[in-house]
Amino acid sequence: MPATKHYYLTTPIYYVNDVPHIGHAYTSLACDTLARFMRLDGYDVKFLTGTDEHGQKVEKSAALAGLDPLAFTDRVSQNFRDMAKAFNFTNDDFIRTTEPRHIQAVQHLWQRLVERGEIYLGSYAGWYAVRDEAFYGEDELRDGPAGRKIAPTGAECEWVEEPSYFFRLAAWRDRLLAFYDANPDFILPAGKRNEVIAFVKTGLRDLSISRTTFKWGIPVPGDDAHIMYVWLDALANYITAVGYPNVAPDSEFARYWPADLHMVGKDILRFHAIYWPAFLMAADLAPPRRVFAHGWWTIEGQKMSKSLGNAIAPETLIESYGLDQTRYFLLREVPFGNDGDFSTRAVINRINGDLANDYGNLAQRVLSMIHKNCGAQVPTPGPFTEADQRLLAAAQGLLATTRHEMSLQAFNRALEALWAMIGDANRYVDEQAPWALRKTDPARMATVLYVLAETIRHVALLTQPFMPGASARLLDQLAVPVAQRDFTHLTPASALVPATALPAPQGLFPRHIEEAAP
Ligand code: MSP
Repeated sequence: MPATKHYYLTTPIYYVNDVPHIGHAYTSLACDTLARFMRLDGYDVKFLTGTDEHGQKVEKSAALAGLDPLAFTDRVSQNFRDMAKAFNFTNDDFIRTTEPRHIQAVQHLWQRLVERGEIYLGSYAGWYAVRDEAFYGEDELRDGPAGRKIAPTGAECEWVEEPSYFFRLAAWRDRLLAFYDANPDFILPAGKRNEVIAFVKTGLRDLSISRTTFKWGIPVPGDDAHIMYVWLDALANYITAVGYPNVAPDSEFARYWPADLHMVGKDILRFHAIYWPAFLMAADLAPPRRVFAHGWWTIEGQKMSKSLGNAIAPETLIESYGLDQTRYFLLREVPFGNDGDFSTRAVINRINGDLANDYGNLAQRVLSMIHKNCGAQVPTPGPFTEADQRLLAAAQGLLATTRHEMSLQAFNRALEALWAMIGDANRYVDEQAPWALRKTDPARMATVLYVLAETIRHVALLTQPFMPGASARLLDQLAVPVAQRDFTHLTPASALVPATALPAPQGLFPRHIEEAAP
């Protein structure tokens, strides 16, 4: 039996104080695309997403909605499941932090940290921002209107004074720095890594990890007056979902931990790149292999916010542009890791340019020529010219390139490589002019169309993780059996078989016709 390669990746678990918008969809989409890629590339993948349901922020939102927190979280958590369904996300599990499996896991982790002397009882007096669920030092804050204190994120802070358990984070400074040093790819992109290292170098304070002034959280074992700090609770979801505290050699934990990738937005990098590895190392568990912090979307140049009412519901995008088109746009438009701006113009340009003109048109013209001139069968090629061989070699090189880019979460660069291939193929069509060969040299026409069909097969296999629907339809049109769509078939050995019957070609990506301005 071949050795199984495992790949475990996670989205952040989303706060249920809000309805899903394109920011959430973006994080999950990146993970889904990578999960699909890794599965097709032969990995046993576990892809986790879920909802973060405790804490003061959720408690307040529930109160505002006039519901008890559990009823509220039941309702809002469902919105995130619906989002996953609408996007056709292939998560293998959906965790909610209110589930018994999670409460048990976190309490176990807490006890472990207590046994190892990493937690002590003290009292906290300082600033807290409910919006960020984060503590801030006085020196980090600026003055806002009416004597208010404002965090660097713009969140308003309140003064908190209460008994609290602390995690000995300060003592982990040097071990964290050594860990970053030994694992240069632990934090990506590199710029973000440097920011984290610079921050840790300035020194860390012990972290308050329990609260007493509200109730909506996981009780601290042995001290019911306290509930756990929501970030300790939330981060632990990543080990709950692989069965922690069962860490036996044949357990799910042993198979998947450490996680290969925690995908997060840049706003929550510190929690994942500082607190989380420190908690894990303190409990004698391995830290994850990578945390990738991606950028933020603005809408037509503006920050997304409740007050501006400009947050885009993911379903609206799918309805307006189509699922594959939306997936393509989000991952192609912005170098992954950078911030990006969503504009209707940019989406339409991508749909009409990259999808309709480039990819769709290539497939359409090649398949319809085959249909009309080769008896609706895979053409039988003659000897290959140098130009044919060059195109086929480029197609066979695509897996190595995209695999490399995906291993760095460079989704946009993987797509660029695929589109460079599409561009080459379109130029080859123009140069070889198969329509002219129809009368002068039908055998050569058949060779040219075969080379093109085989190139398109490679591209379509590799666009599957990004655009599952359209890629499947294209592979259907090439009569590629479903069992031959994983990446082991990106070789000449799996090439299209001449004389295989092909179904009638159909357009892949309609042009997006703009509605007239009102
Ligand atoms: N509950 C915490 C995460 C706990 S993980 C152990 C949380 N949730 S959140 O719902 O507020 O945000 C989750 C993620 O949504 C962000 O990190 C980010 O990845 C994504 N985004 C939210 N708004 C976004 C944009 N405007 N643009 C891109 N992504 C954004 O933080």
